[in-house]
Amino acid sequence: MADIRLEFRDVTRHFPIKGGDGSDVLTAVKNVSLSIRDCEVVSLIGPSGCGKSTLLNMGSGLYQPSLGEVFMDGEIVDKPNSHVGFMLQKDLLLPWRTICKNVELGLEIQGVPAKARKEKALDLLHKCRLDGFEDSYPHQLSGGMRQRAALARTLAVDPKVLLLDEPFSALDAQTKMVLQQDLAKTLASEKKTALFITHDLMESATLSDRILVMSPRPGTIIEEINVDLPERANPMARRHDMANRVGEYVTRLMELLRVDEMAHEVKI
Ligand SMILES: Nc1ncnc2c1ncn2[C@@H]1O[C@H](COP(=O)(O)OP(=O)(O)OP(=O)(O)O)[C@@H](O)[C@H]1O
Ligand SMILES: [Mg+2]
Repeated sequence: MADIRLEFRDVTRHFPIKGGDGSDVLTAVKNVSLSIRDCEVVSLIGPSGCGKSTLLNMGSGLYQPSLGEVFMDGEIVDKPNSHVGFMLQKDLLLPWRTICKNVELGLEIQGVPAKARKEKALDLLHKCRLDGFEDSYPHQLSGGMRQRAALARTLAVDPKVLLLDEPFSALDAQTKMVLQQDLAKTLASEKKTALFITHDLMESATLSDRILVMSPRPGTIIEEINVDLPERANPMARRHDMANRVGEYVTRLMELLRVDEMAHEVKI
């Protein structure tokens, strides 16, 4: 199909087992096929260790599949490419650069003049509520602030496709809602395509067009849910609809992830 941007075709990824003789492998993800259409926002959920980050790393070209292929705009992904903005699970800001200089990094690589890239970085830092921390270094910020700076850096290069690994997981609840709103608006108004990982079921239902649910490791897609709700650009409105329709999606996701069963197994 012409409008498919990112596609995984029967992808499996093995890792060598540490301390093994080299013949033993751990299968992180197995036979994953999925495709993300242009302008679509898709979330990926699943238990810890099921291979979500591994999948995203393959989408970005950082890792290669052991079997199968990943395509971006019909071309095999075999290295990182500048049309894809990638936010790793760990923020990985460069410790020797200030926050502003970290956000400017991608623009610098693109050859954007100093004044323009500083303006862009300051605007994004303002949106991410980091005013006053432009000249600080990463170690001087809290975990949530570093995560916001990493998000600003990802957005700065204006990529067509965003791959985000738990972009809001280290944030406090209020900042998280503000940034979710901001990201959702940007994705819609600038017609971006995004695949993001989250453990937050409400986040997946309020921000995406479609939710992919993975099994425990070796991770494979066990369910695909179309979020048939209006206002994808306005997660707040979807949240307010929580009492009825969003709640149904969250309940369904809890069933798929067996959250109730696991809670019953907890011994007090
Ligand atoms: N570079 C690596 N070398 C060896 N094993 C790895 C590597 N990266 C991931 N793994 C293994 O692959 C499996 C999947 O890891 P991955 O980080 O993709 O999980 P995840 O679904 O993102 O988990 P979480 O929700 O906790 O972030 C894990 O068992 C992990 O130990
Ligand atoms: Mg992960």
